[in-house]
Amino acid sequence: MSGIPRAVTWGHDGTSVRIIDQRALPQALRYLELRTLDEVVDAIRTLAVRGAPAIGVAGAMGLAAVATSHVALTPREFAVALDDAARRIAAARPTAVNLPWAIARLRRRAATEGHLEPVHLAAVLLDEAERLRAEDEAMCARIGTYGARLLNDGARVMTHCNAGALATAGIGTALAPVYAARDAGRHVEVLATETRPLWQGARLTMWELSQAGVPCTLIADGAAASLLRGGAADCVLVGADRIAANGDVANKIGTYPIALAAHAHHVPFYVAAPASTIDPATPTGADIDIEERDADELMSVAGARHVVVGARGRNPAFDVTPASLVTAIVTDAGIVLPPYDFSASAPPRTAPPHTPPA
Ligand code: MRU
Repeated sequence: MSGIPRAVTWGHDGTSVRIIDQRALPQALRYLELRTLDEVVDAIRTLAVRGAPAIGVAGAMGLAAVATSHVALTPREFAVALDDAARRIAAARPTAVNLPWAIARLRRRAATEGHLEPVHLAAVLLDEAERLRAEDEAMCARIGTYGARLLNDGARVMTHCNAGALATAGIGTALAPVYAARDAGRHVEVLATETRPLWQGARLTMWELSQAGVPCTLIADGAAASLLRGGAADCVLVGADRIAANGDVANKIGTYPIALAAHAHHVPFYVAAPASTIDPATPTGADIDIEERDADELMSVAGARHVVVGARGRNPAFDVTPASLVTAIVTDAGIVLPPYDFSASAPPRTAPPHTPPA
């Protein structure tokens, strides 16, 4: 991972969560160590840590960190505190399934351990959170290996938001194939959309790719369609916050119009996501809870207000791209082609990769 940042790791004491504070990028590379429940919830809500896999991993590690600070409680008090922490962390952001998925996994592990003392349960939760973190890192690497098959030498990839290392515990999802193709000796360039209103493309993808030495060009969100029509990109590659059983994809607001434009101009539209983002329990995109954030995020840029005081705004943070617009989904188990059906379960990890489209 040389040159590629690590968004979520354990703190120096092994029981806190060390994150890059992404609110400060690219002006400052600042780290936070999260220990308390309020710190964990606040970091997720305010996008200090963000991206579906990263909030799942940070949420799980945060729950384990909070449990560690409660080991002096009685078993009954500990159970109540753990329950409260789990519910609050899981609800910190609604759209990415990775967050409730990760918290549920820790709770299941705790439940299988029976009636252990708090100190033992906290150790079990730390262990499970570390497994989850390591698995996320490994899943990113596998997505990179599979997805790199879609990128020829000289490939120009359009991406939206940040689905790179900053959004995971590893090398990212949508950017993992870019890194893997580059490491295989191919020249790959990225076109990154600004991603209004919180500028994840401009602030984060541009910073991450420059750290990693990948050529990257910034474009306005509104430029994506005409650039796709003009042949500026060979494919679009984005991440996902939740993939429904029918293959509908929730991702950062602005993904859907890019998918429509890619379809209209015959540019392949690929989604990259680990098994933890695929939600068999959500039948279609219409069933996904789309986070509505404070309209104030629309009203200013870098702290300077540019909209008349009293203006109203709507700020949905995600949209849903219908499965019919998705050329293929790159998972950690291989490349899945339409028609999508994730209703039984996420794709098996050991499945051989499907043949990439020509
Ligand atoms: O609001 P954010 O920055 O958390 O939104 C992130 C995205 O939409 C990403 O594309 C998605 O979570 C995939 S990250 C691997």
